[in-house]
Amino acid sequence: MEGNMPRGLENIIALESEITFIDGEQGILKYRGHDVQSLSSHSYDEVSYLLINGRLPDKFELDSYSKKLKQERVIGDDAIAILKFCNFNIEAMDALRTAVSYMSHCDPELNDNSAEANVNKGIRMIAKFPTMVAVFSRQRRGLDVIQPDLSLSHGANFLYMLKGSKPTDLESRVLESDFILSADHELNPSAFTARTIASTLSDIYSSVIGGLCALKGPLHGGARMAVMEMIDEIGSPENAERYVMDKVSNKQKLMGFGHRVYKTYDPRARVYKQLAREIAIESGNMLWFDIAEKIEEIAYREFVENKGKPIYPNVDFYSAVVYKYLDIPPKLATAVFAIGRSSGWIAHCLEQYSDNRLIRPRAKYVGPDLD
Ligand code: ACO
Repeated sequence: MEGNMPRGLENIIALESEITFIDGEQGILKYRGHDVQSLSSHSYDEVSYLLINGRLPDKFELDSYSKKLKQERVIGDDAIAILKFCNFNIEAMDALRTAVSYMSHCDPELNDNSAEANVNKGIRMIAKFPTMVAVFSRQRRGLDVIQPDLSLSHGANFLYMLKGSKPTDLESRVLESDFILSADHELNPSAFTARTIASTLSDIYSSVIGGLCALKGPLHGGARMAVMEMIDEIGSPENAERYVMDKVSNKQKLMGFGHRVYKTYDPRARVYKQLAREIAIESGNMLWFDIAEKIEEIAYREFVENKGKPIYPNVDFYSAVVYKYLDIPPKLATAVFAIGRSSGWIAHCLEQYSDNRLIRPRAKYVGPDLD
């Protein structure tokens, strides 16, 4: 092999996909042809159906899909016990990975790789992820497990199971939008990981668990937790200047900024910023929003105006602010991201299985001389 390879496969087109379109120069993101901004006011069930089935459902299809998702929300006492055995100091993401792995052991369709069985398993994962995360979080706080409320939406039910009280209409809408905005993002590291595993014809649980593992990293979905911690550390808008300038002068990354594909403002970040503003106003406490806006202002001055680099807030920046207002602890943040992203991983696995070719690139050997 000759020539310069782009490090980190930057800008390499690795496969064809009908799921998500990104224009990183213009800041455009579409799921199955629908602009993400317009989708963010739909329900997560509709968007999850769209990603998996390729088109928005009609009313009958949506009712039947939502019913299936709701029926699958409950997890068994055995899974609750497994989540109780987890180390309570870990991130919820690690507990979710363990619980999904256990869930696969109990699924009679585990090794059935037909499209129908994979959709069934996908629906089970989408439905049970919120319950697993909420159960882990409550048990580690020494609280009783709350059973899912089938009358509530995907987002509202998660908040209810987490906190034990019904969320406001705005909180429910904001979390639904969060799940939608987090649902897919083309060939991001976790979707690529999931597809690579699926391409070996391993089962869909293994593929999604691979996605979970990749999402956890701080250069990917783990940045959301890091942004929450950064906002806490900064504490007030007046401290933001020194914090950002320390990062800049030490050549450290500012979490929640920059993107491999977007060379302009991430379109999801715009929607998140508006959601963060709305929920801050409803809470009567603008502090976290104001800190974030100040960080953004300084980052824009330093990165874009002074250095001419296209480093803008990404999906993890204002979503972290939204999570603060929803009272989601930092150690839960990546797992909550994964709840939304599950539909995207499943859509990618289904697409991979439907027209599979083993994903197996090459490496250029640069080791010791060969005899
Ligand atoms: N803070 C400061 N500088 C940055 C940042 C940042 N957040 N992001 C990129 N840069 C700078 C780099 O230092 C580099 O500068 P240089 O050319 O002078 O060396 C240049 O911009 C290019 O950066 P790379 O890291 O090479 O770009 P890459 O495409 O690999 O990075 C990434 C993308 C990993 C997301 C990066 O922007 C980053 O680390 N951001 C912080 C972590 C983060 O928020 N991750 C979430 C991404 S969204 C998601 O995955 C869900």
